[in-house]
Amino acid sequence: MTSKLLSPLSATLLDCQKLPNHVAVMMDGNGRWAKKRGLPRNAGHRQGAKMLKEIVRCCKDWGIQSLTVYAFSTENWGRPTTEVEFLMVLFERMLCKELDEMHSEGVCIRFIGDLTQLPKSLQREIQKAMDATANNQSVFLNVAINYGSRQEILNTCRHLAQKVQCGELLPEKIDEHLFSQSLYTAGIEDPDLLIRTSGEMRLSNFLLWQIAYTEIYVTDTLWPDFNREEFYRAIIAYGQRDRRFGKI
Ligand code: FPP
Repeated sequence: MTSKLLSPLSATLLDCQKLPNHVAVMMDGNGRWAKKRGLPRNAGHRQGAKMLKEIVRCCKDWGIQSLTVYAFSTENWGRPTTEVEFLMVLFERMLCKELDEMHSEGVCIRFIGDLTQLPKSLQREIQKAMDATANNQSVFLNVAINYGSRQEILNTCRHLAQKVQCGELLPEKIDEHLFSQSLYTAGIEDPDLLIRTSGEMRLSNFLLWQIAYTEIYVTDTLWPDFNREEFYRAIIAYGQRDRRFGKI
C-alpha cells in the first residue's frame, strides 16, 4: 500500500469503492497492547483514545457518515475499580479536551447506553457535547457507554408491552421499524460494517439487533495500533464483499 493511497486525497481513491455509510467498531486489545510494552493497562486505553480521534478524522476525510464505537459495556463494571475509574476520567477528559476541535470539524457526538449510572460529572460533559454538536453533519459519532444490547432489547420490549397494556398500541402494529425506533439507536441507520480488533471472534453484546445484515471484519491488530492504514484496509475489504441481504 503506497503512502499516496493513504493521504487525505485517499477520499478520491476510495470513490470507486463501495463505501459503508455506517461503521461500528469494537475497540479491543488496549490491555494487551500495553502489556506487550510492559506498560500499565491504562496506557493502552490512553493510546486507544488517540486512535479513535484518528479514525473519526478518516471518516470525515473519506465521507463515511456514521461511526459507532463500543467504549464501555455493561459487563465492563466488573473490571478492577482502578481501571473503571480511569476509563470514566479518560472519557470525561477526552470530551473536555476534544470538544472544540470536534465541533469545528462538524462532528455530531451522540451517546448510547444507560447514561444514568455514569458519574455525574461525566453525565454533564456528555450532555454538553451532545448539545454543542447537535446540529453538526459531517460525521455522526455514536459512543456506546454502559451499553448492553440484551438490556437495550429488553427495555424496548418492556416499553412496547406497557404501551399495549395501557391501550396505546395494538400488538399487530409492532414491526421491525417500530422496534428499531424504540432502541437507543433510534434514528440511526444500521451499521454496514462491524470491525473488531485484536482477533476476537465474538459479538460481546454489541448492537445485536442492529447488525442483522452487517458485514463483519476482524483483524488481529490491537486497537491502539489500528491506524489510518488499517482502517483503509477494512474499507477496501468491505468494498469487495457481495452483500445479498438473503437474496441471490
Ligand atoms: C477494550 O480493550 C477496550 C475498552 C474496554 C475501552 C475502550 C476505550 C477507549 C479506546 C477510549 C475511548 C475514548 C472515548 C472518549 C470514547 P481491553 O481493555 O478489553 O483490552 P484487552 O482485551 O487486551 O485486555
